[in-house]
Amino acid sequence: MLDGTAVIRSLSPLPLLLALAACAQPDRPHWPVVGDAASGRVWTERMGCGSCHIIPGMENATGLVGPPLIHFSRRTMVAGYLPNTPPNLVRWIKEPQAVAPGNAMPNAGLSEGQARDIAAYLYTLD
Ligand code: HEC
Repeated sequence: MLDGTAVIRSLSPLPLLLALAACAQPDRPHWPVVGDAASGRVWTERMGCGSCHIIPGMENATGLVGPPLIHFSRRTMVAGYLPNTPPNLVRWIKEPQAVAPGNAMPNAGLSEGQARDIAAYLYTLD
């Protein structure tokens, strides 16, 4: 029979925690561009993302429904569900309801290209 310590040790997600800690380093290099950040900024404004999110440097982006997108390029996770990598961010932007069914962010019907551009823009938020 296992004692309590052995059980805790066997359940410890230490490798994952170490990987996440490494990603949280402030000097982590920015992700490679996955789209066009300038168009992404335009799409972000046009889609009204700022009605639910605070987005630094974007006028009227003061929404409080979702988390602020401040420092997004340095964030470890996307919505607390997915590691913050370009493919995962694009997936979230395109279909948040598939990742986290029932959350308040709607699928907006964005194309892959639009989602990539928006992801590139969010990665400019240092
Ligand atoms: C109706 C409100 C609403 C709109 C509109 C909206 N979001 Fe969200 N968003 C949310 C909520 C709520 C969450 C948190 C979901 C969760 O954690 O399950 C979220 C999470 C996110 C996240 C993850 C944030 C984090 O801290 O990890 C990103 C990135 C994001 N949204 C980008 C966008 C973009 C880009 C748009 C526009 C295309 C947009 N959102 C439109 C409500 C919204």
